[in-house]
Amino acid sequence: MLNTSFYYRTNSLIADTFSAAEIARSVGTPLYVYSLKRVLHNYYTIKDAFEGAAISAHVHYSIKANGNLALLRALIAAGAGMDAVSGGEIFRALAAGATPDQIVYAGVGKTMTELRYAVEQRIGWINIENRDECDLINTIAGALGVRQRVALRLNPHVIANTIPHIATGHGSAKFGLSMDVVQDILSDPRRYPHLDFAGIHVHIGSQLQDVAETAQAVKIARDLAFRFGIKTLDIGGGFPVAYQDSDELPHPSAFAEAIAPLVSGFDVMLEPGRGIIADAGILITEVQYVKKQDWDTFVIVDAGMTELIRPMLYEAYHAVVPLEQRAGDAGKFQVVGPVCESTDVFSRQALLVDPQRGDLLAIMTAGAYGMVMASNYNARLRPAEVVINAAGDSWEIARQRETWEDLIRNER
Ligand code: LLP
Repeated sequence: MLNTSFYYRTNSLIADTFSAAEIARSVGTPLYVYSLKRVLHNYYTIKDAFEGAAISAHVHYSIKANGNLALLRALIAAGAGMDAVSGGEIFRALAAGATPDQIVYAGVGKTMTELRYAVEQRIGWINIENRDECDLINTIAGALGVRQRVALRLNPHVIANTIPHIATGHGSAKFGLSMDVVQDILSDPRRYPHLDFAGIHVHIGSQLQDVAETAQAVKIARDLAFRFGIKTLDIGGGFPVAYQDSDELPHPSAFAEAIAPLVSGFDVMLEPGRGIIADAGILITEVQYVKKQDWDTFVIVDAGMTELIRPMLYEAYHAVVPLEQRAGDAGKFQVVGPVCESTDVFSRQALLVDPQRGDLLAIMTAGAYGMVMASNYNARLRPAEVVINAAGDSWEIARQRETWEDLIRNER
């Protein structure tokens, strides 16, 4: 979980060129720190993998993984499109300077207000997930006198080998359309004169472990697209990220090579989120108390499930490491947050050397699905976010920590 942007130098955790502890002491904790250098490295790794396999691919960064405007701006400047899953994410993408044409909009329950906003803004591409959406978008586009480019999201009935909470491509998942519905819609597109059925969309899950399943889903989508003269396949996101050093996961080039024979002659769209941002971010937290209780010792920190809910929601593993390494023998500790929930535990077996009040810890690989899933439960303040620039030689607060005033702002 250490990498070229987050590593130790003489026992101190470095974020690109900065002491992570110095940033944290200056901004306070809990605090997310992101490395743009690592973000762009990950973006180009994916892009180059597909180019290397001679696939005409366009990357749309999945905003849901982390929508901080500074990150979006950097990715847009690097040429990435944006993948939005709500009107709010479209708004965010536009605020970051994305051209509407470069935004794809997906979502299982888009409201009429969101759809109208998307079509009015001339969003380039909408992934449709049910038949009624065809009618709604057709009506909106007709009223505005425009033609909306859309793709149909196919549920390919491929069960991805990932944590079950985040698999989406199987029959009982709420996502996508079944094959017969897609075929029916495409068999008579004249029913929807204001829609341009330009693509087939598949996304079978996140943190995918096996390229064969992706290839299987892509093949099903490709065959379907071919039958109806459709030229673009949006194959979703899902590139996996190592959360621990022992994780052995397929590289983006393995995905590219597996699908290359299937997609010649097609344009491919990708929607990676985690693969771009997860290992480009850490969550820094300060130890408040160390409490011995029966056979356990609890390290109580100032971040919790309100800042990063993945361990509590999915039993996801995130390494917990000290910002300053201390000499000595490591023991096993429970690292827990302050929230009034027994599940508010980051790690039941963190290896730490003599943790003490005031120590700073980093929860690693926290860039994706961290801040975006943060909440104000227990009237806690959502944390600040720091972004280190692409050269790695300066940093700024990209989002201020919330205040108690923010908590009551919308109440009377
Ligand atoms: N495209 C679609 C249609 C998606 O549903 C998703 C993720 C992505 C792209 C981006 O997938 P990625 O490249 O990030 O794997 N909160 C969970 C993950 C939820 C993923 C939802 N959809 C977690 O923390 O693991």
